Amino acid sequence: MRDRAPAKIILFGEHAVVYGQPAIAVPFRALGVTVDTLVGEPGSGLLIRAHDTGVELRIIADTETFGDALSYAADLVITALGVPVPDVILDVNSTIPIASGLGSGAAVTTAIMRALSSAVRKPLADEPLNELVYEVEKMYHGTPSGIDNTVIVYERPIYFVRDKPPQSFHVGAPLTLIVADSGVSGSTREAVGDVRTLVETASTATMPTIERIGALVGEARKAIEAGDLTAIGSLMTENHKLLCELTVSLPILDTLVAAAAANGALGAKLSGGGRGGNVIALVASRQAERLAAALQAAGATRTWQTTVS
Ligand code: MEV
Repeated sequence: MRDRAPAKIILFGEHAVVYGQPAIAVPFRALGVTVDTLVGEPGSGLLIRAHDTGVELRIIADTETFGDALSYAADLVITALGVPVPDVILDVNSTIPIASGLGSGAAVTTAIMRALSSAVRKPLADEPLNELVYEVEKMYHGTPSGIDNTVIVYERPIYFVRDKPPQSFHVGAPLTLIVADSGVSGSTREAVGDVRTLVETASTATMPTIERIGALVGEARKAIEAGDLTAIGSLMTENHKLLCELTVSLPILDTLVAAAAANGALGAKLSGGGRGGNVIALVASRQAERLAAALQAAGATRTWQTTVS
């Protein structure tokens, strides 16, 4: 049996979303996590083999302490379903780079929880699953808004406001995006913590930036619904500048955004927690290949092309 979860891309509104502003995110299916479930020996307990990180965890009973995110995820779902630890082996494989702003943690948790709930024949609906994944996100990120787990669990484009059900929206014209990896790992936890320090120590300067991001997300939703690619692109670039004000960009991310603008993109921004990770650039589909090559020449370690529709 195989369970999956995709990566995610935040189109607009990261960081401000932590403070109650809206954000827009989409699943990114070119990358993802698969979990293959094999039947173990009777009494062997649960073995999680995370092949990308080389981590192997054996969970025999549900009375152990769970210090890491993978076994915490397993414990949460087993407890929520009210079942004993099943005798299964979970083979976890991920193509999502870690600490890249693409939701690797939430995708691993989602796929593991799906696999365990299917293994005990109590498949979880999206809503309770999302709540459980959010609990693990808190372990990864401290004070997450919940956008990563929500877009990954529901696997559709969402307009998201913290503590509210996600809204769907219409995509008026397909969006061709180049996702460009800076090759730098960025800790979302640290970036979110630093923005919090700014909010607490320089609130008068910082809150208007956060509120402008929120307003811009409203404009972006209208532009996406209307299929107005020019407006979407310039809102992306404005969003990037506001993220720079929040101190979550890096010179390499600014270089990639500038290279995108110079090579035919309609707009570009960092995506996710920042301080590394990925830049996304909106481009007319016929220019996508040229833009990808230009971003690699400007320092991207790899690029992917995706279409949001
Ligand atoms: C991380 O993918 C998105 C942030 O806005 C954090 C969060 O919403 O929890 C940076």
